Amino acid sequence: MKLILLPLLLCSTLEVSFAMTVHIQFMVVKLRSTLTPVAMESLPGRDLMNCATLCALRPACFGFGWLQGRLCRFFDRLAFSSTDGWQVSESCDVYTKIVDSQKQTRLKFGSCKQSTTIESSVCDRAIDGNRNQNYTHLSCSHTDNNPIEWWEGQLAAPSFVSYVTIYNRQDCCAGRLNKFSLLVDGVECNRVNMTESFSVASFSCNAIGSRVRV
Ligand SMILES: *[C@@H]1O[C@H](CO)[C@@H](O)[C@H](O)[C@H]1NC(C)=O
Ligand SMILES: *[C@@H]1O[C@H](CO)[C@@H](O)[C@H](O)[C@H]1NC(C)=O
Repeated sequence: MKLILLPLLLCSTLEVSFAMTVHIQFMVVKLRSTLTPVAMESLPGRDLMNCATLCALRPACFGFGWLQGRLCRFFDRLAFSSTDGWQVSESCDVYTKIVDSQKQTRLKFGSCKQSTTIESSVCDRAIDGNRNQNYTHLSCSHTDNNPIEWWEGQLAAPSFVSYVTIYNRQDCCAGRLNKFSLLVDGVECNRVNMTESFSVASFSCNAIGSRVRV
């Protein structure tokens, strides 16, 4: 996976909201469909629940179809952005993940690391609970200024990451964080490319895993 991240300045606090793995649900989006997305992976499957569980355990899996009695087909999120490109299939029901927003909880990072550190602005400053967005007040992490830099937090357990909220530094240079990717367990869940800088913003992700990288 190529990171498109440019100089990274994460300020203060990085928060993740999620629904616990036990709350992951799937819904039918197409009944007895004879057109399905192109599968990113196929595996033998006992039944519908077996396919749902296997999909829930795959960070990149956003939906699945079960070919009666034998095969789970897994689809990534991109496959659902449009039905152009769906291919003729043996009839099956197509499911996608849903996240119960009522059950969203804020996730906590247990530890973190980052590609490089300057001015002793260690990765932990991004998750110290202090949301001050003035870098000089020592609550922001700071990497070096190389083409590819990153910050990564480790969650206690694999979780459904609905979105990531970032508090950007505001004393200067906020535009350095206009282009970046969000990854969960090494799989890209969002690619951000903005022309305007932000102060505080939430970026959708909707992937399951325990390592969240910006
Ligand atoms: C950031 O903090 C420094 C030191 O307290 C202060 O001089 C500066 O004005 C602050 N910048 C902003 C944008 O608030
Ligand atoms: C960001 O968007 C601009 C146009 O809006 C495009 O020219 C550029 O290639 C994009 N950059 C990345 C890294 O996707």
